[in-house]
Amino acid sequence: MDRYEQVTELARRRGYMWPAFELYGGAAGFYDYGPLGARLKRRIEDTWRSFFVVREGFSEIDCPTIGVEEIFKASGHLSGFSDPLTECKECKEIYRADHLIKHIIEVPDALSDQEIYRVIQDNDVGCPECGGRLSEVYEFNLMFRTAIGPGNKYPGYLRPETAQGMFINFQRLLRYHRDALPFGAVQIGRSYRNEISPRQGVIRLREFTQAEAEVFIDPRDKTHPRFCEVEELILTLYSRQGQEMGQTERMTIGEAVDKGIIAHQMLAYYVARTYQFLRAAGVAEDRLRFRQHKADEMAHYAADCWDAEVLLDRLGWIEVVGVADRTDYDLRSHMAQSQANLKVFVNYKQPERRRVVRIKPDMKALGPRFKGQAKAVAQALQAMDPADLKESGESVTVHVDGQKLFIEANLIAVEEVEEEVRGEEIVPHVIEPSFGIDRIIYSVLEHAYREEMVDEESRIVLGLLPGIAPVDVAVLPLMDREELTGPACQIVDEFRRMGMIVDYDTSGSIGRRYRRNDEVGTPFCVTVDYETLEEGTVTIRDRDSMKQIRVGVQALGETISALIGKRMTLDEASAALSQGS
Ligand code: ATP
Ligand code: GLY
Repeated sequence: MDRYEQVTELARRRGYMWPAFELYGGAAGFYDYGPLGARLKRRIEDTWRSFFVVREGFSEIDCPTIGVEEIFKASGHLSGFSDPLTECKECKEIYRADHLIKHIIEVPDALSDQEIYRVIQDNDVGCPECGGRLSEVYEFNLMFRTAIGPGNKYPGYLRPETAQGMFINFQRLLRYHRDALPFGAVQIGRSYRNEISPRQGVIRLREFTQAEAEVFIDPRDKTHPRFCEVEELILTLYSRQGQEMGQTERMTIGEAVDKGIIAHQMLAYYVARTYQFLRAAGVAEDRLRFRQHKADEMAHYAADCWDAEVLLDRLGWIEVVGVADRTDYDLRSHMAQSQANLKVFVNYKQPERRRVVRIKPDMKALGPRFKGQAKAVAQALQAMDPADLKESGESVTVHVDGQKLFIEANLIAVEEVEEEVRGEEIVPHVIEPSFGIDRIIYSVLEHAYREEMVDEESRIVLGLLPGIAPVDVAVLPLMDREELTGPACQIVDEFRRMGMIVDYDTSGSIGRRYRRNDEVGTPFCVTVDYETLEEGTVTIRDRDSMKQIRVGVQALGETISALIGKRMTLDEASAALSQGS
C-alpha cells in the first residue's frame, strides 16, 4: 500500500470521507465527508475565515450555485472553459489528454490540442488501461448545464468557481464598502466541474468546495499597507526562471518583490498569507512550494499568477491554491455584457485644474419627456465616453432601471470646459487567492499521517494540529465502572460547556483506546483512574510523544483549552514553558 492508499483507507474506515453513492455503485468525482471529515472541513474553513474575514476584514457573501447564462458568457467559461479529451480507440475509456503526457512535459497546460496529440503520437503514449491507440484530442466544456424552470428556455449552469458571485455583485459590494477601494469580498461554497476522468479521490472532484477572495484594488497602487508584516517570511519559490533550470529557491517575500520575481507587493502579500494559512491548517513546510505560472500557461488576462503546490506521495506536486492578479478583466467583461457601470470614482490627493470634455444633455427636452427618470437618464449619458458618443450616429442608447432608451444625438452636446478635477473613474483590478478546500483537506491528512514502531508494535498517528483535529479531546475512564464513569461524564460535560468536541470511550483496553485516538488524530486523551477519586487528578496523554502528565481536575478544562487555543501539543507547550515563552 502506498501512502495514498493508506490515507484513503484510514479515512474511509474511521469516518473521514469515502466515495459518494456507494449504496448504488458510486459515481466518479463525488465524495462524502463523514462525521470526522465534515468537522475537519469546517475547522479548515473556519481557519480560512479567521485569516481572510477576521484578519483581513473581507466581507463574506453567499450566492446561488446555479448561474444564468450571461454570467458565463461574460466570464469566458461558456466559450473557453474546457479541457483536452482523448478516447481509447479499443476500450473506449476517456482520458484528460494533457494528464497522459505529464511525465513527458512538466506543464502541458500551454499546449494546443494538436500539440498534445503530437506528443502522444511521437512518444507512443497508449491507453493506460489496455494499451490501445488514443483518438485525436478535442476540447470538452466542463460546465454542468441545466434548465431554469420548465422547458429549455432559460439555460442555467452550475457555477465552476465561486468568484463570479463577487464580480456580479460588485456594485452592491462597493456601496457596502462606502464607495472606497480597496476592499475584499469572499465566498466559501460548492463549485462544479464535469471533470473528464476524476480518478484521484478528493483531489479531482466534480463537486468541490472553494474558498475564494476577490480583492478589488486601485490599479495605480499595487503596494500593500501591511506588507511589512510579511516581508521577512521565507518561502520556497519555483519561479519561471527557476522552472527553466529545474530549481526552487528559498527567499523572503520582500526579496522576491525587490528582485521582480513576484510582480508586486499586493500579490506577494496574499502569497504570504496563503503560506501562513496552509501552515496553520497543517500542510508540511518541506512539502509546500509556490510555483509561478509560465507566460504561456497564464490566463490571457492575468498579469502574474502563483500556485501553492503541495507534494503528495503518489501524485507529486499538486496545485491547492492559485493566487492571481486578474487585472480588470472580470469587471470589464461584466461591464460589456451587462452595460452596467462598474467603475469607481477615486479622488486625487490634490484636485487638479484641467480642460475636460463634458457631455451636456438638453434637460429642457429630456426633463418633460422622462419626468422622474430624467436625472438617471442624464447620469447615464454623462457616464458615457464622449468618443463613443461621437460615433453613435443619430441616436444614443442608454440603459436605465432595466429599460433600453433611445435619445436623439441632437439633444446631447459635447463641450470642452476648464474644471477642477477631484479624481477620476477607474475600473478596479482584482487580486484573487483561490483555495480548493478538498485538496487542502487531503494534503493535511497525508502530511499528518505517520506510522511508527512502539514496543515492537506499529502505531498509526494522524498528527493533526490541535484546533484543526476534528476531536479536541477524548475522555477515557480506565475501566467501565460507575465510580470512574461518573466523574468522567462530569469532565465530558465541562469540556462540552467550554465548546470543545469530545469523544467519550469506555470500550476495550486503555491501550487500544489510545491507539484508536492516535489514528483519528485526537491530540489529547484524558484518563480517569482511581487516583482521580483519591487525589482529584487525571492524566493528560499527549498523542505525539505519548507522554502523560497528571493535572488537578480543577485546572483541566483551562489547560486543554489553552493548548487548543495555541494549537500546541503538550510537548510543544512544555518546551515553550521551559524556554520561558
Ligand atoms: P487543475 O489544473 O488541477 O485542474 P485548476 O488550475 O483548474 O486546477 P483553478 O481553476 O485555479 O484550478 O481552481 C482553483 C482551486 O480550486 C485549485 O487550486 C484547486 O485547489 C481547486 N480545484 C479546481 N478544480 C478542482 C477539482 N476538480 N476538484 C477539487 N478541487 C479543485
Ligand atoms: N477563481 C479561479 C478558478 O476557480 O479558476
